[in-house]
Amino acid sequence: MSNSMFDVIQEDIDKLNEGLIEAVSSPVDLVTEIGTHLVTAGGKRIRPALCLLAAHGGPDYSLSRLLPLAEALELIHTASLVHDDVIDEADTRRGSITANAKWDNQVAILSGDYIFARAFGLIADGDYGNYVSKRLADLVCNLSVGEIIQNHTVYHAVKDLDNYYNRIQKKTADFLEICCELGAYVGGFGKEDVRRMAEYGHCIGMAFQITDDLLDILQTSEKIGKPAGNDIRQGIVTLPVIHALNVSEEAGELEKIVTDPAMTDEMVARALSIVKATDGVEIAKAKVEEYLDRAREVLPGNLAPEIREAFVMVADFIGDRDF
Ligand code: FPP
Ligand code: MG
Ligand code: MG
Repeated sequence: MSNSMFDVIQEDIDKLNEGLIEAVSSPVDLVTEIGTHLVTAGGKRIRPALCLLAAHGGPDYSLSRLLPLAEALELIHTASLVHDDVIDEADTRRGSITANAKWDNQVAILSGDYIFARAFGLIADGDYGNYVSKRLADLVCNLSVGEIIQNHTVYHAVKDLDNYYNRIQKKTADFLEICCELGAYVGGFGKEDVRRMAEYGHCIGMAFQITDDLLDILQTSEKIGKPAGNDIRQGIVTLPVIHALNVSEEAGELEKIVTDPAMTDEMVARALSIVKATDGVEIAKAKVEEYLDRAREVLPGNLAPEIREAFVMVADFIGDRDF
């Protein structure tokens, strides 16, 4: 994401980065080394930035009070990616080597656990109350359940769009929703403003993931740094593929490919061309616009102009990602 949308809180993000390094340091040097590698490996800090922005201008706003929460959100995200890279046997993330590739799976799993526990330590120290703890616990439950369901249904070609929306909500949208919601909540905004910020987070999360899934279908491998059609290859069906499975005359052939764990590169290319011949891509793009329009519209009316502008820029950025 372009940094300009977070310019307004850049100094806060610098402080957050220092806090993250401190949070992962341990009396055991190896733990510090792994933790530092993970929190400095190029994250965009979208989640903590949303949390800090959402808190701005609230009656209880205080950066020192907000930072541990924002750091915990980034640490939970980092821990989930460390575990995800073990599950997906990934060697690189954001251009850096993953913990499982640099060390091994055991080290990666345990480092993820360590970072995850540090996050909850920050939350306990912050004394944010039961509501914040409960929302974060629910978030991690949803992330885990989403991952379990996904791994259970790979190569199944579930043709139901609700299943897709449910999956991306658990995987991405719930997280961005909670960042916005808890930022506004701890900042001291009233119920209706907190609800609006939560809905904004949900909408940009849904739009972000649908766009990500579209990029996997439309972009060339050079551009995304991984082969196009990667989701299909991994047995994961996304919106345009599900649409094609429902409407394409070649749906039978497509289904045979996407349910075959041994599919070849040629089969992936054929699947992509069947999908692109339908209007699934257009439907997905329209859905992204729908979510982004709602995101801009639902922002609370009383935000400071520069904060509103930052939130609108985030929505614009998601809409402008080129295919
Ligand atoms: C990326 O998905 C990963 C996730 C959405 C979260 C995975 C969640 C867990 C492994 C459980 C949570 C555990 C803890 C400790 C919080 P992806 O593989 O589709 O995308 P990628 O291209 O970024 O790898
Ligand atoms: Mg992965
Ligand atoms: Mg994964």
